[in-house]
Amino acid sequence: MLFQHVPVVATLLAAAVIEVAALPKRAQQSLGKHRVTNIELGPRPYYLVDNMEAGPLKDRLGACSEDAMRPTKFSISHRGGACLQFPEETVESIMAGTRMGAGIQECDVAFTKDRQFVCRHDQCDLHTTTNIVATELGAKCTQPFTPASAANGTAASAKCCTSDLTLAEFKTLCGKMDGFNASATTPEDFLHGTPGWRTDLYATCGTVLAHKEFIALVDGLGLDFTPELKAPAVPMPFEGGDYTFEAYAQQLADEYREAGVDFARVYPQSFQFAAVRYWLEHEPAFARQAVLLDESGDRAGLEAAVANLTRYKDAGVNIVAPPLPYLVELDGANAIVPSRYAREAKRLGLQIITWSLERSGPWPPSTRRDRRAALIITTRLSSTPRPATATFTGSSTCWRARWALWASSRIGRLRLRTMLTAWGF
Ligand SMILES: *[C@@H]1O[C@H](CO)[C@@H](O)[C@H](O)[C@H]1NC(C)=O
Ligand SMILES: *[C@@H]1O[C@H](CO)[C@@H](O)[C@H](O)[C@H]1NC(C)=O
Ligand SMILES: *[C@@H]1O[C@H](CO)[C@@H](O)[C@H](O)[C@H]1NC(C)=O
Repeated sequence: MLFQHVPVVATLLAAAVIEVAALPKRAQQSLGKHRVTNIELGPRPYYLVDNMEAGPLKDRLGACSEDAMRPTKFSISHRGGACLQFPEETVESIMAGTRMGAGIQECDVAFTKDRQFVCRHDQCDLHTTTNIVATELGAKCTQPFTPASAANGTAASAKCCTSDLTLAEFKTLCGKMDGFNASATTPEDFLHGTPGWRTDLYATCGTVLAHKEFIALVDGLGLDFTPELKAPAVPMPFEGGDYTFEAYAQQLADEYREAGVDFARVYPQSFQFAAVRYWLEHEPAFARQAVLLDESGDRAGLEAAVANLTRYKDAGVNIVAPPLPYLVELDGANAIVPSRYAREAKRLGLQIITWSLERSGPWPPSTRRDRRAALIITTRLSSTPRPATATFTGSSTCWRARWALWASSRIGRLRLRTMLTAWGF
């Protein structure tokens, strides 16, 4: 789902930076992966718990350190599920997220020049998430690479969209960590600039995916799907032809139907109300689990977002997905309580999926605001009718899931309140 796009100032990396541009062309990988049953979280959750201050929360979390882990739909991958470590929206990211227990896999859907669907977080992010500017395809970009100019005081830039390329061209690219070098004077240097809180350790030419390949891969893994139809970054109909927004929305349902996937395994998402409304009207079975991503409160304020809930309900939406801060507020005694938005959604019988625990940088969060954002997930979990889901960008889904579950218990809530007080909320 969403990850705040922060322009990244060039970061000097440690010595062993892998030269993405110098990578060999990727050998075509077989997508026939077997099911993953041995779930491993890696060292990160244990590291995080070890670094917590002593107290009941640390004890409680530490107590599950030797438990066997299992996949769960409680964990929805984000851009594959491991984009702090692996190039996003690639086979490798999906495999890493799956290894860490994701039960539902995400592909953000954008279209190519020949109207094929590919997995990319943004229709126009190829210049920061692939090696395109350093390949001959860079010339096809909406805006090809422009070097930084000290004399003109301008940063290096480029804008490359999936709709600039055919699917076959797109498939020759290497996925890399999202980032760019704003002071680059060469296309090769532009590829660098991975933020310091990510790593290039596994950025060895990520395997980019067509949406149809995503379906085959995730189906083979036995997991569920959450494709997100991204807002088109070009005027629709595309190139003035017959490829309308409606045709684009229809194509998503068609690709699952053609692959023989039961719609009960698909949670199509979109920030575009028009897309969800289209599915409700033309593909009701596909729309039953459609997730309306809602950031309407960002522009118009929370009350407007609350008012919108009735419209969504009346249109037939079953699941809304607001960002975490919409869902909680403080009461007079400084206790975290469900917000008006959360209460109204519940009253209307809307289910809630939320995002994003980590919006901007490392965990544990260092600012008061981020710590608070991280905590509020817990109150929402205790205020929705069904076990809710959350999207995670990082590598410690189990740990967070368990924290959230713990926090939704009565004792957990009491202890959380103590913690919040200690943290000055
Ligand atoms: C700097 O600006 C001048 C005048 O607009 C332009 O001709 C030139 O190409 C620019 N140089 C770079 C490196 O952007
Ligand atoms: C960014 O680009 C500049 C100019 O090309 C280069 O000197 C610098 O080493 C680059 N930074 C990284 C992290 O590659
Ligand atoms: C949500 O609320 C905003 C602000 O009132 C409004 O502009 C927007 O059209 C609403 N969205 C829907 C789908 O009703």
